[in-house]
Order: sequence, then C-alpha cells, then structure tokens
Amino acid sequence: MSKLLVTGGAGFIGSNFVHHVMAHTDDQVVVLDKLTYAGNLASLEGLPENRYEFVKGDICDRELVDDLVSKVDTVVHFAAESHNDNSLNNPEPFITTNLYGTFSLLEAVRAHDKRYHHISTDEVYGDLELDDPDKFHETTPYKPSSPYSSSKAGSDHLVRAWARSFGVRATISNCSNNYGPRQHVEKFIPRQVTNVIDGIRPKLYGQGLNVRDWIHVDDHNSAVLRILEAGEIGETYLIGANGEKDNKTVIELILSEMGQPADAYDHVNDRPGHDMRYAIDSTKLRTELGWQPKYNNFETGLAATIEWYRANEGWWRPQKAAVEAKYAAQGQ
Ligand code: NAD
Ligand code: TYD
Repeated sequence: MSKLLVTGGAGFIGSNFVHHVMAHTDDQVVVLDKLTYAGNLASLEGLPENRYEFVKGDICDRELVDDLVSKVDTVVHFAAESHNDNSLNNPEPFITTNLYGTFSLLEAVRAHDKRYHHISTDEVYGDLELDDPDKFHETTPYKPSSPYSSSKAGSDHLVRAWARSFGVRATISNCSNNYGPRQHVEKFIPRQVTNVIDGIRPKLYGQGLNVRDWIHVDDHNSAVLRILEAGEIGETYLIGANGEKDNKTVIELILSEMGQPADAYDHVNDRPGHDMRYAIDSTKLRTELGWQPKYNNFETGLAATIEWYRANEGWWRPQKAAVEAKYAAQGQ
C-alpha cells in the first residue's frame, strides 16, 4: 500500500483517476485542488473516508505543497489550466499554474526524495498534417502552438531538468484527447452533448476537419497506474488508443446517437492557430509495460458518456449558461 498526493483531483481526469485508484488498488489518496472554475467536489462524492482526504489549496503555495509532499510516497500531478480557448483569451493563469505550479511540486519532491509522475499532453508536439503517415513518438521534437500547450511543454522540460540535474525520480506521460464522465462542459464532446440536451445546435469550429486521437479517460488512468507500478524512472510514455476522428465525424456521431439529423449543427468561428491533427504511437507503453486500452470502440464509449451527461444534469447544469455566454461573445 502506498500514499499518493493527487493534484487536480477535483478536475476531469484527476477525479476519474482517484475513483480508479480506489477501485483497483488499496492505496491512500490525498487530493490537492484549488477548486478553480474547473474543479468540482461533486466529482469526488462516494469515496471511502478511510482512504481519501481532500485539501483545498494552490500548487503554487510552496509551504503547503512541501508539507503535503513530505507526508506521502508519490505525487501524481494532474493540476493544470487545461483549456486551449481560455489560454488564447488570458494566458496568465496558464503560466502561473502550469509552470510555477510544476516548479513548486518539483522542489518539494526533490527536498523529500519522493516519486513523481507528471501528466502531460500530446499537444506539446504541435500538430501533424492530415495526410502525414507518421504519428507522435517519445522522440518527436517539441513544437507547441498555444499558450496552453507551450506552458505544458515548459513544465515537461522542468521535470526532465529536475530529473537529470537533481536526481528527482520522475516519469512523464503525454496523452491524447480524453473523453468520458465528469469532463467540463467547455470541452468539445460535453459541450455538444449538453447543447443537444438543451435544444441548442452543436458548434463546429471552421470546417471541422481537425483530427483528435480520442481515448477514454479510464484507459488514460489505467496507463498512469501501470507507469506508477512498472515505469522506468526518467522515462516518458505516450498514451493513446488509436482513436483518430475528425471533429465533424464526432459531431455527426453525437447527433445520430441522440436521435437528431446528422446535419443539425452550426459552423462557427475557427480557433486561432488551431492544430490540425494529433496522433499517438503508444508502442513503447504497450510493449515495455504491457498496457492495453479497454475501450476499443469509440461509439460505445461515446454512447456511455452521453448517457452519463443525461443522468447527471445536476453536475453540469450550474456551469452551462456561463460557458455558452462566453463562447457566444467570441462567435463560437
Ligand atoms: P481540468 O481542467 O478538468 O482539471 C484541472 C484541475 O486542476 C481542476 O480541478 C482545477 O481546480 C485544478 N487546478 C487548476 N489550477 C490549480 C492550482 N493552481 N492548484 C491546484 N489545483 C489547480 O483538466 P483535465 O482535463 O482533467 O486535465 C488534467 C491534466 O491532464 C492536465 O495536466 C492536462 O494538461 C492533462 N491532459 C488533459 C487531456 C484532456 O484531454 N483533457 C489530455 C492529455 C493531458
Ligand atoms: P477541445 O475539447 O477544446 O480539446 P483540444 O483543444 O485540447 O483538442 O477541442 C477538441 C477539438 O474540437 C478541437 O479541434 C477544437 C474543436 N472544437 C469545436 O469544433 N467546437 C467546440 O465547441 C469546441 C469546444 C472545440
């Protein structure tokens, strides 16, 4: 049994990770989360009290972070400002949380010699052409496009520097786009699903030819657990499940699953600097650590996700109107 500090555990992937850890290990978990607009305590309901503790706080608070890190075995760092569109409107919190926040955690794990796993994104590699036969590999050069992806790229570089220069026992994972329950309604799939529930037409940026490599959040989290169990210190692992789909196709699948005509959506303003395509080659994770995704059919995972949003309106309703007002103001 081990004790984990999970930062950002009230967010989408972090909260699903905490549920996953409770179901698949006998580990203890301390969640550290600032409860920004993206954090939701309702995502952590139903956890066993004897194995789980919640601390509201900022990863940039060096004293708090040092104290919490000193009391656990391992840090799993999910906390971040995570939405590209927000980073284009106001980059500052991305710089603070994603860069300074990671520095703060690295200094604490260095001081207390704790194991550290860093959650990152495939967006650090920039984008691929639609017809490029290649995918992202662990050795692909970094070429981030947005304030979000560049701040995540910078945080990855900090981790590698702290590992090499100070011997921090770190691993990094870069995962593709996640979908599943408890994702904020600002993100693509929950936005369109809750739009359809509300009788609003889904909104496609530009022509919608952009490709994302979708993975179910539980598959991301099973990979993170596998890296914690067997990953080699100092190594990076790419996490992906061969789920490439263009945005137009995803909207059409949502509409069809929800009983609407396939063309019942609107084209809206494109995102500035919009990355065209992401695609992950996860051979290293599969061959070296024996990991396999469980959700091999996107349509089935999507149908279950739609069902979750139908059944959990109380979870997303409080955020919906403000998110739509913000998008409407920028023609999206
Ligand atoms: P999210 O926005 O849903 O959740 C982020 C959480 O971090 C929230 O609970 C928020 O309150 C918390 N937080 C933000 N700033 C904080 C701070 N300064 N101190 C403490 N807590 C703070 O994000 P997510 O989609 O769950 O992403 C989690 C991680 O996974 C991020 O590091 C992101 O870069 C990475 N990632 C996300 C995806 C994806 O598809 N969503 C894909 C690959 C990697
Ligand atoms: P998003 O969920 O913001 O993730 P990311 O920017 O990390 O890929 O967006 C996924 C894709 O969907 C991206 O190509 C932008 C596009 N998109 C839309 O077409 N409409 C929308 O309303 C949103 C939020 C995103």
